[in-house]
Amino acid sequence: MTGRVTAPEPAVCQHVGVTMSETSPRLPDACASGRTPAPLRIGPLAVPTPVELAPMAGVTNASFRRLCREMAEAALPEALRPSRPGPVAAPAGGLLAPAGLYVTEMVTTRALVERNERTLAMVRTDPAERVRSIQLYGVDPATVGAAVRILVEEDLADHIDLNFGCPVPKVTRKGGGAALPWKRDLLAAILTEAVRASEAAAHAVGRARQVPVTMKMRLGIDEEHETFLDAARAAENAGIAAVALHARSARQHYSGQARWEEIARLKESTALPVLGNGDIWLGDDAVRMMETTGCDGVVVGRGCQGRPWLFADIVAAMHGSSARTRPDLDAVIEVIRRHGRMLAEEMGEDRGVRDLRKHVGWYLKGYPVGGAARADLMGIRTLDELDAGLERMRSRLPDVVDYPGDIVEGPREAGSPKTPRLPDGWLDSPALDEAHREMLSQAESDVSGG
Ligand SMILES: Cc1cc2nc3c(=O)[nH]c(=O)nc-3n(C[C@H](O)[C@H](O)[C@H](O)COP(=O)(O)O)c2cc1C
Repeated sequence: MTGRVTAPEPAVCQHVGVTMSETSPRLPDACASGRTPAPLRIGPLAVPTPVELAPMAGVTNASFRRLCREMAEAALPEALRPSRPGPVAAPAGGLLAPAGLYVTEMVTTRALVERNERTLAMVRTDPAERVRSIQLYGVDPATVGAAVRILVEEDLADHIDLNFGCPVPKVTRKGGGAALPWKRDLLAAILTEAVRASEAAAHAVGRARQVPVTMKMRLGIDEEHETFLDAARAAENAGIAAVALHARSARQHYSGQARWEEIARLKESTALPVLGNGDIWLGDDAVRMMETTGCDGVVVGRGCQGRPWLFADIVAAMHGSSARTRPDLDAVIEVIRRHGRMLAEEMGEDRGVRDLRKHVGWYLKGYPVGGAARADLMGIRTLDELDAGLERMRSRLPDVVDYPGDIVEGPREAGSPKTPRLPDGWLDSPALDEAHREMLSQAESDVSGG
């Protein structure tokens, strides 16, 4: 088939009875599977399609994770498609992630330990999820350990990812985010404590499965101050289960090209599974990254903003199908409507529709809908207003508005390089001193993503 996302399909996937949403678009038929990637294992997690939705603050809430995952699963070879929602057992007591991992937005450890209401809502995952992957951000070993204990003891997570990649100046200025791995003793202490807390908590409450801890990082602060190879060594020593590398420095921010060759360097230097990240815009990019770098899996961020069907294309590509998704405008409108309803259910109509607005901008990128329609949709407050706005927009356009092609297959956000802000004297020593420790305690409150 062409891979075009078309009108809504019936509620039940004809092949295996997977209950999909009423408006799930038709996705590529990847049943004619050829190649299958080497299965990725992260502790007890078996990931036969080695792709991960990147944690993105303000983006990867439960609704968006579900949208991406459902589209990915619809493109799986039939033998891998789960027959019902929720966890799927893997051999030897493991857990299967048939279409990959879909990670929450970053949650700060201090807010979790303080049981902040909003934070707790973020870690209450969708019951339909296969694997509950939660990303934590913390700067203090004891607080990170306490947060990990909560997630494991209270059975809130199957996988915990630690974020060391945030490039935002207000965070690195206090030694947090991508600046932190420069202090090797602190990084090692956080990693060790997270793994220890996870193991101890699983044992204390008699959980059948361990909860693996992974880490996500950047190349370093800038080209002269790389940290990723040392950080991977620390991860290996601490018992971390896998490392993900966004192949840019903090200085690069989101600009320029990710340096995939550095992913290959990491893969050569560590025995841990390596997930490569940066600039995957197409299904074939995912396969190309794995082939050219030797990495064990890929992490996908901006490429799926406004294009959750990218996961269908990645699944298809990884399982050897040539089917690709090229939605016309009507198919995109159906996805927007569905996404809006999911968000309204997740967080209430008011917050949900406000959250949807940025996605609408991303979804419509490249489609010739006009500035006035875009502005109109940026003002919506209810689902009815969304439907009415989409209808007004549609009524002014031709019967068929085709997929625009290459123009939608690039970054929604890129920006330019930014000189990293660091605490005075931060680069003088790889060990943390008291003054910097004090400053770091303030680094967690301002964080907003990676
Ligand atoms: C809006 C936004 C929010 C992000 N939030 C996080 C985050 O919370 N945690 C994290 O580790 N990385 C975060 N990132 C970084 C992404 O996970 C990913 O590493 C980065 O976008 C590079 O991958 P890409 O080229 O596929 O986009 C964020 C990126 C964006 C664009």
